Amino acid sequence: MCGIVGYVGFDPATPILLKGLEKLEYRGYDSAGVAVYDEKDGLRIEKAKGKLRVLCEKLHDGKDVNGTIGIGHTRWATHGAPSDINSHPQVSDHGKFAVVHNGIIENYLTLKEFLLGKGITFVSETDTEVIAQLLEYYYEGNIFSALVKVLQKLEGSYALGVICTDAPNELYAVRKDSPLIVGLGKGENFIASDVPAILSKTRDIYRLKDQEIVKLTRNQVEVLNMDGARIEKEKVHIDWDVNAAEKGGYEHFMFKEIMEQPKALRDTISPRLRDGRIVLDDITLTREQVEKIRRICVVACGSAYHVGMVAKYTLEKLTRIPVEAEVASELRYRDPIIDKSTLVIVVSQSGETADTLAALREAKKRGARVLSIVNVVGSSIANESDDVIYTWAGPEIAVATTKAYSTQLAVVYMIAIYLADLLGKLSPEEYENYIQCLQKLPEQVEDALKDKESIQYFASKYFNAKDIFFIGRNLDYALSMEGSLKLKEISYIHSEAYAAGELKHGTISLIENGTLVVALATIDSLFEKIMSNVKEVKARGAYVLGVTTREHTAIQSEADYAFYVPKTCEMMQPSLAVIPLQLFAYYVAAMKGCDIDKPRNLAKSVTVE
Ligand code: M6R
Repeated sequence: MCGIVGYVGFDPATPILLKGLEKLEYRGYDSAGVAVYDEKDGLRIEKAKGKLRVLCEKLHDGKDVNGTIGIGHTRWATHGAPSDINSHPQVSDHGKFAVVHNGIIENYLTLKEFLLGKGITFVSETDTEVIAQLLEYYYEGNIFSALVKVLQKLEGSYALGVICTDAPNELYAVRKDSPLIVGLGKGENFIASDVPAILSKTRDIYRLKDQEIVKLTRNQVEVLNMDGARIEKEKVHIDWDVNAAEKGGYEHFMFKEIMEQPKALRDTISPRLRDGRIVLDDITLTREQVEKIRRICVVACGSAYHVGMVAKYTLEKLTRIPVEAEVASELRYRDPIIDKSTLVIVVSQSGETADTLAALREAKKRGARVLSIVNVVGSSIANESDDVIYTWAGPEIAVATTKAYSTQLAVVYMIAIYLADLLGKLSPEEYENYIQCLQKLPEQVEDALKDKESIQYFASKYFNAKDIFFIGRNLDYALSMEGSLKLKEISYIHSEAYAAGELKHGTISLIENGTLVVALATIDSLFEKIMSNVKEVKARGAYVLGVTTREHTAIQSEADYAFYVPKTCEMMQPSLAVIPLQLFAYYVAAMKGCDIDKPRNLAKSVTVE
């Protein structure tokens, strides 16, 4: 949520900040702003409500603002509606400090009252303004000391970029529970919420830990703890292909990322398959520890939670250990039965989702071992877990997840097979069969993607639908949840996912003549059952799109239209059946003219509660 970027160097700062923000816009896009200092012009603040392009147009891509040091921000509003005033940077009363912030200051009202009592004037409704005002209030000529005093007062989460008119060559930054990296250049240095923002400038970075304070000048980066002692940081070299974070000729990141799924799956699966065995070097769980696991709890949000639902069916079936999947925002506020005999599996693309991180911490407090499935290397969730398995999906930019979801599923299958094998629950034949299915998966996904034109055609008939229902049983129910979320998230069409057998307990009353029902029927043993549910909705006027495997041509006599996907073992079928659902959502949203990569009200990385 919100993207921040900062620059200090010899080049004009504004174009660099705007280019950086462009790469961070996926984090928030309701307004944007920059603060740039120039000896002649002083501190210039430029902000604009709306997408970043509004600000870029206003500033002629930065050519209009002089200065070689500055901070920038792209916002996802929490405190105060999107507006020029509420956009960041926020500035202190006498214009000495400018601050950009990602996160939420939970005690901002108390702090604001305190400052109002001192006669300080506020202009915005944001929590961030409190930080700028506090800095000026505590400042006695030493920026570092003022920053420490302010941080001691703040409750909540933050990644901050700060500049001060008294030190026109210094940029300060600090984080707590919100991501922030430092980019190390030659004669220039950077801060950013995420790597793509600085990738065209440098590949050497520091990943900051909570409450490490950084002072950046053109030629030096000092990382200090709250006592002012220097911290030696390990330089991390980023070896991504720059194109990974570019659209590469595609109209939307989402479509590019859908098409990248075979590669993402190969990169995630291949290094972990050696001589016909799954090798999870990433995890240190021993057989003895696995034998002591009495419960598995999968915790995540959104699509990652839908992966958790697949994990519940899969892990339970293979390991016979009871598995629960729970949304992180619920788990953290009840009294969950989690102890040292529980394995908690945390799933997150960004590794920064606030609710998921809080649930992880709660689980650790209760003594559980935490294994996380994460895409962003070095993220908070990865850092705080006992074991991490990375999904090598590469940077995912579109707000709607596709390739991260698919690689998370692949990791879930590998964990299930690995644990079941350790527990002696699989015959050699079963094990071998699963390995073969895993090996074939990327190629089968490629195959499923070839059918895109027929999905595009179907989308052209239904892009004006008002309501769309997704139904399925077992793994297909877990997948219905994902298909429905994908569609509503980017096309704004109302949609619900239902366990197919549950429809007749209420929801079937919503089915009218022509209502589109997407029926997932990829599980052989449940095919007839789901066909009965198809009959039920058709009898009430529904138009049914069936999604099944290629041998179930019998679906044609029940459904009005069918998509077929290649066949794999039951457990891995969601990886293939999700492809038409992703494509359907994409084409519907494209035909409606929606802003696919940046759907309204959303952001890629949800670092607030
Ligand atoms: O970064 P995370 O995987 O923790 O994010 C979790 C959800 O916010 C995310 O999956 C969200 O639901 C996606 N926009 C769905 O496409």
